[in-house]
Amino acid sequence: MAQLQSDTDTTLAEKSALLNMPKHVAIIMDGNGRWAKKKGKIRTFGHRAGVESVRAAVRYARKNAIQSLTLFAFSSENWKRPDEEVSVLMDLFNLVLNSEAKRLNKNGVRLKVLGDVSRFDRKLVDKIKRAEEMTASNQDLVLNIAANYGGRWDIVNAAKQLMSKVSEGELDIAAVDETEFDKYMSTQGLPELDLLIRTGGEHRISNFLLWQCAYAELYFTDVLWPDFDEQAFALAVKDFNVRQRRFGLIGEQVETAEIES
Ligand code: FPP
Repeated sequence: MAQLQSDTDTTLAEKSALLNMPKHVAIIMDGNGRWAKKKGKIRTFGHRAGVESVRAAVRYARKNAIQSLTLFAFSSENWKRPDEEVSVLMDLFNLVLNSEAKRLNKNGVRLKVLGDVSRFDRKLVDKIKRAEEMTASNQDLVLNIAANYGGRWDIVNAAKQLMSKVSEGELDIAAVDETEFDKYMSTQGLPELDLLIRTGGEHRISNFLLWQCAYAELYFTDVLWPDFDEQAFALAVKDFNVRQRRFGLIGEQVETAEIES
């Protein structure tokens, strides 16, 4: 693996390329409940422990020049969980916004929340807005927290915005292609998703980043989220690095392109 020179003579994109890092990694943080149960504790104990793994994932991403990290914190379906569990998840979200936002800011991390925040209470929405504004100019890492997020919602939301532009005569329907459509997705402006990790042993996408997963590598691990540390993240990246991404081409075409670049 290539060595970095110094922090000042390389840009983030250059560092990321030197280290052969995925530019954008997303994680479905699964297994908190089972982790707690194994320890004879209630499910919410696992969610609280999961916050430490969030910190470890952010640390790893920063150290290794990953440009964008997207974490699935709360799906649109999670509202159906018992009230007490939903309430603990909201408390944890508040905690991250209260106590971690300043630390993230100090460390050059830009915080963004992806999803339909209109269902959250007013105070939480204000906190999200403030944290996003405070960190808006940071460039070391974009940390996207997907909250009340669903992949189908994201696509429908983009389609609605496009339709309204078309109906107002601001956009010609003939100009709508994948690039144009992508501008209305919640991940607009972020690098293309390279790697999707799911912890907790299930092999499914669960309505996360459906549009963005088109060419992403998928990595599933049995490790439960509270046990997912920097070493576990490094294993996922190592696995990503040995895969050949073909983007619809055949292997020989990709090899020729790699030699020429
Ligand atoms: C899935 O595990 C996990 C969640 C629904 C919530 C993830 C939340 C955190 C890690 C803490 C808060 C983080 C932020 C960024 C605010 P599960 O409960 O489905 O586990 P199980 O499959 O074992 O039941």
